[in-house]
Amino acid sequence: MPDDTNSPDVDRPGHGYSSSRRGFLAGTLALGGAAAGLGTPPLAAGAEPAKGGAAVVNPRLFTFVGGKAGGWSVVSAKAIIGDPLPAAERVDIVHGAVDVLPDGGKWKLRGVTSNGRYTTEDEKQRMAKKQADLGRPKATHAALIPIRKNAKWWALAQDERRAIFEDRSRHIAIGLKYLPAIARRLHHCRDLGESEPFDFLTLFDYAKADAAAFDDLVAELRATEEWKFVDREVDIRLVRVS
Ligand code: HEM
Repeated sequence: MPDDTNSPDVDRPGHGYSSSRRGFLAGTLALGGAAAGLGTPPLAAGAEPAKGGAAVVNPRLFTFVGGKAGGWSVVSAKAIIGDPLPAAERVDIVHGAVDVLPDGGKWKLRGVTSNGRYTTEDEKQRMAKKQADLGRPKATHAALIPIRKNAKWWALAQDERRAIFEDRSRHIAIGLKYLPAIARRLHHCRDLGESEPFDFLTLFDYAKADAAAFDDLVAELRATEEWKFVDREVDIRLVRVS
């Protein structure tokens, strides 16, 4: 999951879709003059500007709003482990903060892109060679998978987490097989506050033809030792609203 060190679109903001205002936006938008020359970071792929003309203050912050509005229609939302999320018809991916749940909003989840914790330089290079940006025109399908890991995981030392994550669970090695068909971005939530319901918000997009491959990918990862430390996971499948 692209964190800063891996993610093409964060390193080179402005990538992504060009479609209607409700769809994915790319590049810098005039945010009520705030952006013009004031160094407002351009919108990353797959994000709407924060509402009300507010400049994007933290370029690494994204908010996912489940409700009646947004560029993505919810096809299914399954609780894989733990509690489900309230049912929503659409997901709005906002680049920035969402202070107030909009009309018809059921939930909002926030996370920041961040640096790698476990990825070696060699793995980073191998991913950089293969991975694609979010927002390809053909990527009409997506998945938002919020995940929380248990206290036992967080009590482990860094090297032991790395050993479980890669040496034994082969997370990156498995993931590499599915690039570039699957594009990805990882958002970290845990350090935003004690009340965050998840530790990670994982986002993927892909072409309809690769939907079965995505199912294979998640099945492979969920069968690993790493997933024994997951105590909440919701699998939300999305189709882009044309
Ligand atoms: C598309 C193929 C995939 C690749 C190449 C991939 C690669 C990665 C990488 C490089 C990291 C960051 C490790 C670090 O912090 O250095 C990561 C983290 C993570 N990925 Fe994936 N991933 C893929 C698919 C998935 C899928 C399908 C899921 C969920 C079903 C997932 C869930 C996660 C989670 C939760 C983390 C954070 C783990 C932690 O910090 O404890 N990944 N992945």
